[in-house]
Amino acid sequence: MTRWLLRHGRLATLAGDAGWGLLDDGALLVDDGCIAWVGPDAQRPGLDAEETDLQGALLTPGLVDAHTHLVYAGDRAAEFELRLQGASYEQIARAGGGIRSTVSATRAADEAALFDAAAARARALLREGVTTIEVKSGYGLDEATEARCLRVARRLGAELPITVRSTSLAAHALPPEYAGRADDYIDAACGWLAAQHAAGLVDAVDAFCDTIGFTPAQTERVFRAARALGLPVKLHAEQLSNQHGAALAARFGALSCDHLEHLDADGIAAMRAAGTVAVLLPGAFYFLRETRPPPVAGLRAAGVPMAVATDHNPGSSPCLSLLLMMNMACTLWRLTPEEAWRGATVHAARALGLADRGRLAAGQRADLVLWDATHPREIVARFGHNPCRRVWCAGVEVAP
Ligand code: NIG
Ligand code: FE
Repeated sequence: MTRWLLRHGRLATLAGDAGWGLLDDGALLVDDGCIAWVGPDAQRPGLDAEETDLQGALLTPGLVDAHTHLVYAGDRAAEFELRLQGASYEQIARAGGGIRSTVSATRAADEAALFDAAAARARALLREGVTTIEVKSGYGLDEATEARCLRVARRLGAELPITVRSTSLAAHALPPEYAGRADDYIDAACGWLAAQHAAGLVDAVDAFCDTIGFTPAQTERVFRAARALGLPVKLHAEQLSNQHGAALAARFGALSCDHLEHLDADGIAAMRAAGTVAVLLPGAFYFLRETRPPPVAGLRAAGVPMAVATDHNPGSSPCLSLLLMMNMACTLWRLTPEEAWRGATVHAARALGLADRGRLAAGQRADLVLWDATHPREIVARFGHNPCRRVWCAGVEVAP
């Protein structure tokens, strides 16, 4: 039967613009993978539908991890040790480590090995209720390896029950063969985009605009190439310094600007005007032992939607727990638990250009999570604990 009714759940719908949207004894009708009706159990539609009794457990929308670098080979734990001894992330990158060390390992790995490693990481996210993820390339930095990583991202979406959005991030770092020729590399990377797009491998285009990444002028060229193909853009912006990348990205109508520790008032205003989502990444802030928080109060006051994501990658955030990121966004940066939830559901979906998920409301995809909890704030308050009990993707229960 494609139609079924979940009954007697505590539903956190997040359906309005504010508040949890709690329904204490709620019911939800799923029809053909979508939510057809949500409301008090006593008012449920009298239809012929298979029923599941949730026995008062908490039901929420599936979580959305809007920023990951899930496809890579190798490991950078030795750099963690170096940083604990005083080396900085930038020093390690300038000495040829950092992103470039992962690039060497990724170029040497075949597609099957990259897929197996990435699939294991995606399943770990799914076990915590993540039903949609974004996956970036950016550890190939040559045409063949970038395409291989994007194909792996597409295969993840095809073989796992989760939705995968893939982002081309060839402008992540300068590969060694282009040393001293960053503009030539940007020319090449812009040239690869058309073929990636024609092969159906790209949903969005990203770049790393920073002192150890690319300049605003180089970033703008990437954005122009994306725009010419009709692809939306995003940006790793103001992570280590203020390059005014957020304002640049906003001029291109960016879906999101991510990191943002050094974002200033002009950047906030530009993001607000463009409707760009601020994707906050507490994992990288924590793991790099950064001290400057993103301007959460300013973003909140301006009404810029805030998302929270893992930024999973081997160098700056080897974290596979979006729940932990939600907790850390609150403890480190004073998001409210409700902001953390919106940041991992409806605002995260918006950062991916997806309007069909992130809330429990009629017409949304039936991506659902049942938790061992009575209120969503409990899930944010606890850490190092996984209360996820059952997960449905497009109305189908999945075993992570
Ligand atoms: O989002 N800032 C740039 N990119 C990644 C880190 C990549 C790496 O260190 O491998 C990030 O933090
Ligand atoms: Fe990142």
